[in-house]
Amino acid sequence: MNKEQGKISASLMCLKLKDLENDIKIMEEEKVDYLHVDVMDGDFVPNYGFGTDYINGIREMTDIPLDFHLMVMRPEDKLEWFKLRPQDRVCIHYESTIHVQRTLVRAKSYGSKVMLAINPGTPLYAVEEVLDYIDGILVLTVNPGFAGQKIVRSCISKVERLKEFLDEQGYGDLELAVDGNISYENAKLFRNMGANIFVAGSSSIFDGGDLRVNIEKYRDVIK
Ligand code: DX5
Ligand code: ZN
Repeated sequence: MNKEQGKISASLMCLKLKDLENDIKIMEEEKVDYLHVDVMDGDFVPNYGFGTDYINGIREMTDIPLDFHLMVMRPEDKLEWFKLRPQDRVCIHYESTIHVQRTLVRAKSYGSKVMLAINPGTPLYAVEEVLDYIDGILVLTVNPGFAGQKIVRSCISKVERLKEFLDEQGYGDLELAVDGNISYENAKLFRNMGANIFVAGSSSIFDGGDLRVNIEKYRDVIK
């Protein structure tokens, strides 16, 4: 079990544009750890969003580190678009590039934390050959590209089996992030399995309730 406090990665695709400035101010005050940016190209996932102009705009508004979830084909060709910073993290999908090890090494050269993302249908053992080149793994617990989905049930045991595998292989210190329908209840479940980064979206902090109250409730669940 990861001993340190769990980290909140707040999903920007789940907040309302009209509330952006106000919500970012609240997230700064509440010390949210990351802003989760779902970059989507309409090819890797059947959705489109969060282009570089939007990201540059967020950069002008806040210094909260960005958690780039690259749902794009051939991410290796696009890394320099995002002006990555050491305190950021970049999540590369195993399924999005032919040469995943080379892409992870290239991502690392930008200095930020590098995560390998795996879709619900990707076997957890896909991570086995690149454990030395990553800072952690992002487990997609929905088929990525949309907020508001329900968890893919098989992913619940997948997180547990992955953590057991990492511990057995001597990689128990790698960070373990989960993304997709990470409700308060699911966050607690995955926290107890050893996850330490939680993508909080429409099923939790952006459920329409008071954002500040929701963040404090979420932090309590993942402590
Ligand atoms: C998946 C997205 C969503 C979102 C979280 O591509 O990354 O998981 O951030 O939103 P909810 O909580 O609605 O799944
Ligand atoms: Zn995401």
